Amino acid sequence: MTFLITAGPTREPIDPVRYISNRSSGKMGYAIAEAALDVGHDVVLVSGPVNLAPPTKTKFISVSTTDEMFEAVHRYADELDVCVLCAAVADYKPTKISPTKIKKRAAGTSLELIPTCDILQSLGRQQNRKFLLVGFAAETDHLEANATKKLREKNCDIIVANDACVAMETDENELLILFCDGETKRISRASKTFLARELVKIFANSQQKRLTKKL
Ligand code: CTP
Repeated sequence: MTFLITAGPTREPIDPVRYISNRSSGKMGYAIAEAALDVGHDVVLVSGPVNLAPPTKTKFISVSTTDEMFEAVHRYADELDVCVLCAAVADYKPTKISPTKIKKRAAGTSLELIPTCDILQSLGRQQNRKFLLVGFAAETDHLEANATKKLREKNCDIIVANDACVAMETDENELLILFCDGETKRISRASKTFLARELVKIFANSQQKRLTKKL
């Protein structure tokens, strides 16, 4: 199967020296890419800026902004069997990017922000998509309720929910997996490498089931 995986944060520039971003390390997405390659899948890895070396056999696309990630994902959408959007995408970007460094002022200042495009939602809206669509939900509270809302609103097949405070910048995670048919599965705290192997098996089986149902 061909997997596309997004990983890491996106960055939204404010001026030539500043940006808005988040603490995502990219480790979960890179671990999923490694695990998929290990069992013989083809992998396109679309990555925001992280301190990790990409797996050697992957088709690697380095991006910075949300718009760049959106464009890269849509470029490959027709060729995919499984699309896993693991990236911690910036939700907002500055209304304008200053071409010169913004100078400090004695008074306070504020930044006007507009929403970025939602990559997962844009794929969920595609009629008759052939690939399994997997989103991640990073939450700090009401994990199951918030993740269930994302599953429904973004129209994906699977949401992998995790506590952002447990997951960010660490090598371990614990997961709650929600399927669109109402099934749920929990995987207790383990290394991201172990979790990634389990997730790849679940994603490949789910896509196989989708295809069998459609025949
Ligand atoms: N996502 C995306 N494009 C965005 C924002 C999020 O594709 N502009 C994807 C993420 O990659 C993830 C899922 O949507 O697979 C949920 O991301 P998350 O940050 O948990 O949720 P948001 O939709 O941003 O909502 P909130 O920040 O309010 O929790």
